[in-house]
Amino acid sequence: MSNRTIKKKSSHFHVKTALRLEALEQLTDEINVLDCYHGDGKIYEAVSKQKKFDLLGIEKNESRSIFKVLRGDNLKIIDEIDLRKFNVIDLDAYTDCTNLLKKIIPKLTRKTLIIYTMIINRMAGMPKNLIMNEVAINNKIKTITNKFINEKWAAFLKSLGVETYKEITFSENCFLKKYGYFIVKSCKNIEKMI
Ligand SMILES: C[S@@+](CC[C@H](N)C(=O)[O-])C[C@H]1O[C@@H](n2cnc3c(N)ncnc32)[C@H](O)[C@@H]1O
Repeated sequence: MSNRTIKKKSSHFHVKTALRLEALEQLTDEINVLDCYHGDGKIYEAVSKQKKFDLLGIEKNESRSIFKVLRGDNLKIIDEIDLRKFNVIDLDAYTDCTNLLKKIIPKLTRKTLIIYTMIINRMAGMPKNLIMNEVAINNKIKTITNKFINEKWAAFLKSLGVETYKEITFSENCFLKKYGYFIVKSCKNIEKMI
């Protein structure tokens, strides 16, 4: 038996790929991507079939990417990178990208497209034995917490200066998955998106 690890493709792979193709259309100049949660780079491999760009990946684990990848923790590596080289910063996190966003946005000095994945476990903190299969109650919890999370997320982005963003949200089991993008002109000047 082979002991080669088979990595699963990102969930919503096609949605994420299409979102990136759409987001990159916002840029008219050469595209330079800093992909902070690079994995095996499968999404940008798919994007590269339709769009031309340069890319540097950051990945904490071993990567079988076709792109150049720096290995390590993005929160540390980001401090060593000259962000002026990039006009796209991609944060395709498994869970929470807020720490990296908080670090990156104040450093931006040029027009930059930020693409993100933000996944929130709406049941986090709820004791397992209380998460039962009562459909009506669970639906109520979903609706209330989704609304609360959406408001909190919008307030978080606003605190960074981001008023407008394009986003698609999936509500799945215990998770709220947000895929989106916005443009920052420079740290104090976030461009409105149409
Ligand atoms: C959703 S996957 C990314 C998939 C990838 N965009 C693709 O196209 O295949 C998230 C990746 O981020 C990596 N990761 C998580 N935390 C990280 C960190 N602090 N620094 C660097 N990479 C990290 C994980 O190992 C995982 O490969």
